[in-house]
Amino acid sequence: MASGQLLRAEALACTGHRHACHVMLYSDTKSQLFGRIPIRHVVLMQVRFDGLLGFPGGLVDPSKETLEAGLTRELLEELGVAVPVSEEDHVESRLAPAVSAAPSNLITHFYVKKMEEEQIREVEKASASTAVDHGLEVMGMVRVPLFSTKRGGGLGFFLSHSFIGNARSQLINSLLRLHLLSAPELQCALRSSLK
Ligand code: APR
Ligand code: MG
Ligand code: MG
Repeated sequence: MASGQLLRAEALACTGHRHACHVMLYSDTKSQLFGRIPIRHVVLMQVRFDGLLGFPGGLVDPSKETLEAGLTRELLEELGVAVPVSEEDHVESRLAPAVSAAPSNLITHFYVKKMEEEQIREVEKASASTAVDHGLEVMGMVRVPLFSTKRGGGLGFFLSHSFIGNARSQLINSLLRLHLLSAPELQCALRSSLK
């Protein structure tokens, strides 16, 4: 197992730690940008209150609720829809790196869930209207551009923004693992994100 990674059960056995659960919601789509560039997939992220990009979700207390029930509760607050997330959607758990000299006591749990495009649209509508955290913890939901335009636009520019914790690598790893993007396409985007 990659360093820092924990099995879900191992993570839950860690006492004295805080737990945070986040999810990447995505769907397929036939939409085309400018009527000619296939969007292929809708992948949702959010602009957080601190200006960083991240995934919806938040802190969960496993002594009071399951990780997945806590995540669904956070999704209701941040998206306005209680999207059900199950143990089968779990991808990885890991100890967050220490920010200063103090050891980290935060364990992050990451999930991915595929939805229908129409359900994603409902989430987008609710997140901008009924979600209690709209304009507070969450400044807005955003779609990740998976295509590349001339001069490094699209995914390359998106990846050059700032992300919370390991959200950037969670995004990149998920795009590859779920075959939402090929390795050469990603390499091309990563090159332009460094320019
Ligand atoms: N990878 C790693 N860590 C992350 C990720 C990620 N993708 N996303 C968020 N975190 C960290 C954040 O830094 C935060 O410390 O997980 C913790 C909880 O996530 P939030 O989504 O911010 O938690 P939430 O419960 O929605 O917000 C409640 O958390 O950030 C604080 O003070 C803030 O009042 C807010 C509180
Ligand atoms: Mg929250
Ligand atoms: Mg949150």
